[in-house]
Amino acid sequence: MGMAKKEVFHIVTNNNLKVTNNLWISTQERRKVNMKTTIASVDNLSTDNASYAQAVDLLIKGEVVAFPTETVYGLGAIATSEEAVAKIFEAKGRPQDNPLIVHVGSKEEIKAFTNNIPKLAQVCMDTFWPGPLTLILPLKPDTLAKNVTAGLQTVGVRMPEHIVALELLKRLKQPVAAPSANKSGKPSPTKAAHVYHDLEGKIPLILDGGATGIGLESTVIDFASDIPSILRPGGVTKAMLEKVIGQVGESKPTDHNDAPRAPGMKYTHYAPDSPVYLIEPSIVKVKEAVDKIHNEQKKVAIIASESFEQVKGDYFFSLGIENQLSDAAHLLYQALRDCDETDVDIILVPVLSKEGVGTAIMNRLEKAADGKWFYS
Ligand code: TXA
Ligand code: MG
Repeated sequence: MGMAKKEVFHIVTNNNLKVTNNLWISTQERRKVNMKTTIASVDNLSTDNASYAQAVDLLIKGEVVAFPTETVYGLGAIATSEEAVAKIFEAKGRPQDNPLIVHVGSKEEIKAFTNNIPKLAQVCMDTFWPGPLTLILPLKPDTLAKNVTAGLQTVGVRMPEHIVALELLKRLKQPVAAPSANKSGKPSPTKAAHVYHDLEGKIPLILDGGATGIGLESTVIDFASDIPSILRPGGVTKAMLEKVIGQVGESKPTDHNDAPRAPGMKYTHYAPDSPVYLIEPSIVKVKEAVDKIHNEQKKVAIIASESFEQVKGDYFFSLGIENQLSDAAHLLYQALRDCDETDVDIILVPVLSKEGVGTAIMNRLEKAADGKWFYS
């Protein structure tokens, strides 16, 4: 039964975000023409209303629904239903021991399933919510489905800052467990089309709110330890956190021998089909590398800021203007996914600055490369 394909698949749209090229696949069209995608702009409130109502219906029935957040697209299910949450793991092919983030539409909602919220955690919520910050808090026993937290005594919570996500959560009035809506191991989806690519046939509905703003997953901060500690860097940086709560710890990606505190961080992540290599950010070095790779009759893609376009690799995917790190964050996952549409043998990425959101970018790139560097 588990593998049976759902016959209904919609991409629906929300026009509050001034998205012009929206996709709409109606059930009937899908059945008739088998996956033909019709592009139409949806620009009246009644259509939006119907889409939200459909999403809420599906969630209440125990189905999964993909939706945009300000970071990446999430794949949601009602966090109190073990059966519904199991569908998330199944659709993504996600390891069972990797807990999910619970999304809420208001700060109040977390009281139903957390205990003893530390003062500093409250300060963080008051400062950064809604926004790209996930807090690991003590779980109130027997409140959420066990598979949400993978049996841990803690739970990750976040209130997203996205008009579609918030509207959905406010209508539903229930916490939603949602990991990123990608196939496990692949880069997180920053567009509805990415979700469709990875999960087509496996989930009934994608709410399309256009490209996500930040493009990298939320910062995860652990309040279950003595000193609050960043488990996953993201849009809310260490400096931003320290400004409001003082000293914050950090689990270094190089701490390979330590048991990973965020269980998800031990798995392969963000990986295109071809191997990714980090390289020194010098035009000369990258040119040398490309020559070397070409000498071996291999094809190379470069993912880098525009200044590297002059290096004649076989493919170039831009991360925007040099040192515009928020643009690089926004473009990174699309670029990694673009590589999978090519016949490259190797992907080179000149490293970026670790300032600000650069910490999060380099964290994802080090994982995508599995720590590999190209030396010529
Ligand atoms: O921006 C985001 O956070 C996106 C959007 C959809 O909200 N979600 C997301 O979820 O990235 P996911 O499942 O792909 O990543 C959640 C991370 C994983 O590394 C997981 O191990 C960690 O958070 N995590 C969740 N609950 C945890 C807990 N109780 N203790 C430690 N780590 C936890
Ligand atoms: Mg993920």
